[in-house]
Amino acid sequence: MEPFSGVKSASVTRAAAQRLQAEIYDKAGTAIWRHAVYDVLHGGWELACIGGREFLDTVATRSGLRSGTRVLDLGCGSGAACQYLSEKTGCWATGIEINKSQLRMAEERRSSSVGSLLSFYQGDVSHHPAPGKYDAVYQLDTFSLLPDFEAAIDAAHAATCETGMLFMADLVAGPHFDRKTEDLARELDGFLNLRPPAQIAGMLGVGGFSSVRSTDRTEQAIRCNSLMLDWLEDPPEALPAGVTSSLLTDWIRATRWYLERFEHGALGYYWWEAAHRASAP
Ligand SMILES: C[S@@+](CC[C@H](N)C(=O)[O-])C[C@H]1O[C@@H](n2cnc3c(N)ncnc32)[C@H](O)[C@@H]1O
Repeated sequence: MEPFSGVKSASVTRAAAQRLQAEIYDKAGTAIWRHAVYDVLHGGWELACIGGREFLDTVATRSGLRSGTRVLDLGCGSGAACQYLSEKTGCWATGIEINKSQLRMAEERRSSSVGSLLSFYQGDVSHHPAPGKYDAVYQLDTFSLLPDFEAAIDAAHAATCETGMLFMADLVAGPHFDRKTEDLARELDGFLNLRPPAQIAGMLGVGGFSSVRSTDRTEQAIRCNSLMLDWLEDPPEALPAGVTSSLLTDWIRATRWYLERFEHGALGYYWWEAAHRASAP
């Protein structure tokens, strides 16, 4: 999350939003992320998302991940989700990520106890020809950042085997979404594709998926932002190294804004699951 920059939102072009995303995820290994996000929300796992382990546990159970099965993470960030799933189920896990700093963090996981099950590639998930086919493909808080949502769904479909499933967890346009929310979300975090959840479900159908199930998990986003705010507003008296009071001020402002937008219904958070059409009942 970045401070309110005062930049007029209309001037945040697609290219500027993508530069902002790059700046943000270049810093996703820093102390404020570790303390306010990874420790507070994800038990220390470096997950830069809301869905977290609860979503990953659902992916594992619903798609029957186990030793010998293959999962693909589109926008894998630090690779923590891949490591989590391999440790939990013994599956092969592959991640695609555009950001080099994040990819470096992911590569370090190849020396973990499940390192031989992990592989990571640098690429754009909208176009990357994923090597092979996967039993489960998922994206965790990534497609809302992409300029072309449809292309990413097509790439996800191409990567899913005929009996496979797609899972997604992401921010959406809530029932009270408006232009101001869209502009500020773009200015703060580079969001380029906040869409109504029903539209996304329709796009999955057009993109070759069936049995699409959407679940409103906005309460999870409210809980996560509240927990982060509790820590940010009442950090340890001796601030952890690398956490400055000006960073705290910026993060508090942004987190309060997101919390209020989720509570108001301007933003929402959804999970989806869908079957590759060939595997539909
Ligand atoms: C909100 S973070 C989530 C990371 C990861 N899914 C997690 O839960 O920890 C979004 C990630 O998507 C990556 N990303 C953005 N655009 C991308 C693209 N076109 N292709 C691949 N990765 C992308 C960002 O660099 C960032 O690491």
